Parts: sequence; C-alpha cells; structure tokens
Amino acid sequence: MVRKMHPTLLPPILFRLVALLAIVPFVNTDTSHILRRSLYPSRLRHLRFQQRDVIPDLLEGWTAVGCYTDNVAARTLTFVGYTDTKNMTVDNCVNFCNTQNFVYAGVEYGQECYCGNVISNGGTTALDSDCSFPCNGNANETCGAGGRLNLYWSGAVPPAAPVIAPNNGLWISLGCYNDSPATRTLTVPTAVLGGASNNSVQSCTDTYFSSGYPLAGVEYSRECYCGTAIANDGAPTPPGDCPMVCSGNSSEFCGGPNRLNVYNYTGTDLPPITAPPVEGGGGGSPVFPVLSDLQVGWSYNACWVDNAHGRVFQTEFPDNQMLTVQGCAALCSSKNFSLAGLEYSVQCFCGDNLVQGSVKVPDNECDMGCSGNATEACGGRDRLSVYTSTGSVTTFPIPTVQTIDLPGNWHYSRCLAEPGAIRIFP
Ligand SMILES: *[C@@H]1O[C@H](CO)[C@@H](O)[C@H](O)[C@H]1NC(C)=O
Ligand SMILES: *[C@@H]1O[C@H](CO)[C@@H](O)[C@H](O)[C@H]1NC(C)=O
Ligand SMILES: *[C@@H]1O[C@H](CO)[C@@H](O)[C@H](O)[C@H]1NC(C)=O
Ligand SMILES: *[C@@H]1O[C@H](CO)[C@@H](O)[C@H](O)[C@H]1NC(C)=O
Ligand SMILES: *[C@@H]1O[C@H](CO)[C@@H](O)[C@H](O)[C@H]1NC(C)=O
Ligand SMILES: *[C@@H]1O[C@H](CO)[C@@H](O)[C@H](O)[C@H]1NC(C)=O
Ligand SMILES: *[C@@H]1O[C@H](CO)[C@@H](O)[C@H](O)[C@H]1NC(C)=O
Repeated sequence: MVRKMHPTLLPPILFRLVALLAIVPFVNTDTSHILRRSLYPSRLRHLRFQQRDVIPDLLEGWTAVGCYTDNVAARTLTFVGYTDTKNMTVDNCVNFCNTQNFVYAGVEYGQECYCGNVISNGGTTALDSDCSFPCNGNANETCGAGGRLNLYWSGAVPPAAPVIAPNNGLWISLGCYNDSPATRTLTVPTAVLGGASNNSVQSCTDTYFSSGYPLAGVEYSRECYCGTAIANDGAPTPPGDCPMVCSGNSSEFCGGPNRLNVYNYTGTDLPPITAPPVEGGGGGSPVFPVLSDLQVGWSYNACWVDNAHGRVFQTEFPDNQMLTVQGCAALCSSKNFSLAGLEYSVQCFCGDNLVQGSVKVPDNECDMGCSGNATEACGGRDRLSVYTSTGSVTTFPIPTVQTIDLPGNWHYSRCLAEPGAIRIFP
C-alpha cells in the first residue's frame, strides 16, 4: 500500500537512508530496523508507537506524523480545540479537527486536542518516547505528554498562511482598526451573500459596493460592517491586532475581537447609497424561542445583551454549523451548567450566571435562526437566546475596582499593563 508521506518526514528519512548506505557492510539489527522504517512508510505508524499503537477508527486519509514539541505560551497547533477529562482519544480529536477543516490534529497531556493548518512557533519532532501519556479515553493510544503532542495529518496540502488582503479590485486595504460594540467604527452591519460563514474581504466589499458605501470592514472572522466615514474615534492599530481568518476564506484575515480590517473603495462608480441586506442566519423566515420539546427541566428565559462590556458567559464552544437550541442545552446540561446561551446562529455558550451587567431585551431582538434549524431563534449579533435548567437567571454587574473596605493600610493604586512575557512583579 502506498501512503502519502508527510513532507516534514522526508528529509530525516532521506538522511537516514544515506547514512545507512554508507554503513551497509556493518548492518546490525538496529539499522535494518531503520531501513524497514524508511522504506515502508506504511509501517511507520506502527513502529513509531511502542506499546500503544492501535488506532482502530482513524478517519480515511489521516496518518500519524509523530511526536512533536509544544509550548504552552506558543502553540505548535494554534487552534485550541478542546479538553476532555474523560474520553480523549486520537480519533475523537482527529474527527473534531477534520470537521473544522484543519489538516493537522494533535493530542496532548492525555486529554487535550489542538488543530491547525501549519506547524507553528518552531514546533519540531521529538523522541517518540517523549509522547508517553495514555489517552484518557483509550489507554492503548498515546496522547502526547506535558509539552509534547502526537501529531496527525489529513494528507491534504495545508492552505497558504493567511494574509491581510491588500485589495479586492478597487477596494484598498487601510489596515487594522479598533472597534467597539457600543460605538462602531463603521456603523452599518450587514449580512454577506451566503451568510456569516461565507464572510471574506470579497463577499463583504461586494455586498457594500451594491449598497453604495465607500468603506467596508471585516471583523471577528464572521462580521461585515460599512460606513461613509471612519466614525466614533476609530483609529488604526497594529496589524497583529487583526489575527482572525475569515470564516469564508482561510487565506485572509478578517479582523479580531473588537478589531476590523478596513477597505476603502477608490473607484468613482459607486451606486447611490441604499440599505444593505439585513442579517438573519436562518434565511430570513420568522424565528421563535423554543418553548416545548426541550430536555426535562430546561425552559426558555429571555433574550439578553452580550458584549456591551465583555462576554456575559464564561464558556464558549466552537462554532457549530448545525446548532439547535436542543443541542446547545443538551451540551450545557451534560457539562453540568445550568444556563445555555445561543448567539449569532452558530455560537453555543454555557454558564451558571451572566456577568458584565447583561440586560434583558425584547424577544424580537434575538432574530437570527439557528444554523441547524432555521425556525428556532439563536440570538443575534450581540444578542443571546438564554435557556435555564433552574427556572431563573442570576446576573452580576460590571466588575469594579474595590477602593474601600480594604484591610490594614492597603489602598488601591492603579491598573498597570504587563507587556509581553515580562512580569512586573518578578
Ligand atoms: C467516547 O467517545 C466515543 C467516540 O465519540 C463514543 O463512542 C463513546 O460513547 C464515548 N464514551 C463516553 C464514556 O463518553
Ligand atoms: C486495548 O488493548 C487490549 C489488548 O489488546 C484490548 O483487550 C482492549 O480491548 C483494548 N482497549 C481498547 C479501549 O481498545
Ligand atoms: C481568498 O483570499 C485570498 C487572499 O486574500 C485571495 O487571493 C482569494 O482570491 C480569496 N478567494 C475568495 C474566493 O475570496
Ligand atoms: C460566498 O461569497 C462569494 C464572494 O462574494 C460568492 O461568490 C459566493 O456566491 C458566496 N457563497 C454563497 C454560498 O452564497
Ligand atoms: C479613500 O480613498 C479616496 C480616494 O479614492 C480618498 O479620497 C479617501 O480619503 C480615502 N478614505 C480614507 C478613509 O482613507
Ligand atoms: C452538578 O452540579 C450540582 C449543583 O451545582 C452539584 O451538586 C453536582 O455535584 C454536580 N455534578 C457533577 C458531576 O459535577
Ligand atoms: C425545528 O425546530 C422546531 C422547534 O423546536 C421543531 O418543531 C422542528 O421539528 C425542528 N425542525 C427540524 C427539521 O428538526
């Protein structure tokens, strides 16, 4: 059987072959082992693992690359998948990364799953024996170790590293700008053709060209805004502030949290300004909260504001293109949370209370359909459809600095930035 070889494996193997040819007259059992390993990549996976080597259900095309270094501060695979403290297995992690369209998956520390399209931050091969932790979901498999991951590859060529698209036709990049939900830098939101999962510089600027706006910006991977001018003190920020790839094109950046990549139309043929298309994840049909058909004990609470002062839930799960209210509530329930929140068609949050001073708004502000069921309301832009298993929702105000009632002679000084990795208090 011919297997595709991971490109980073080739040089060491060629090197080993050359080294081997040089010492052929002195072949011993060790080097013949290396020869088998080099000539029969299909045996590679088997031989790279010592006692634990059986990966029964690995998805078609995926193969083991080996044991790699990792670093908590600078990940080898930069997309943090999930931690499963009970049932991490190689195929569970590979399946997860595969559904998120990544070409690499890595299991670490017996319980962690990472995904990526590039081997980043200088991650490199480590001794196989370094990857010594059994997977907590199947002790026959190896799931890395501290600072080590077992890397798997789908066989697909990784897409090119993303760039800030310099232009789309006559739309020219002005770079990364700051933004805030309360005071938008570009004030008019829109839905791009194909929905939030198809957001890109092209789909966003094309949409606004038709609406006649000269400035367009892409934010937080999935969002698209426009305006006639940079508003509300919006100002350029360093390019590294806009690190999120576009939901509809992984080759280019679409802003970041409260950051947008702004484009300026430099042609003279814009049509007159008209209202841009409105969003509505479910395809524009009316949407409703789910009032029955939920799991026992769960009920709808209300539509709540998110992100006015920060996220109001503390736990967010990866975007789900098949999200339903029942699915999110079941997930939160299985993790023993008492609240579930759905936002922007595809986002599921869990928690036990709402923080950052969230407030209730009328149900009709949660106007986007769920990605997995267009008639169910799944929040909106910065709006959460919230479900509870206790019949109520507890909220906490925006946190403030404690300046009174401090013990002894302590008093509050000020808030200091801690730049980079250098600690202010050694
Ligand atoms: C562990 O994951 C596998 C694959 O998803 C699943 O079939 C199995 O039921 C899970 N086991 C537990 C105890 O959750
Ligand atoms: C692990 O391997 C042993 C011995 O081959 C086998 O009996 C057992 O079923 C395996 N366990 C799993 C979870 O695959
Ligand atoms: C995706 O992004 C790349 C880089 O900006 C660009 O060259 C390409 O045309 C884009 N493709 C689509 C379909 O937008
Ligand atoms: C996604 O956006 C591109 C670029 O604007 C467009 O050509 C394509 O038709 C859109 N996809 C869907 C499914 O609407
Ligand atoms: C956009 O480009 C036009 C030239 O086509 C220029 O007059 C205008 O100042 C630019 N706008 C911004 C915000 O840079
Ligand atoms: C689930 O939450 C309840 C109430 O907070 C707690 O008593 C219980 O121990 C938790 N169960 C698990 C499995 O964490
Ligand atoms: C969509 O959700 C509604 C309300 O929960 C439910 O009645 C309906 O059966 C769902 N449709 C599908 C196709 O699952």
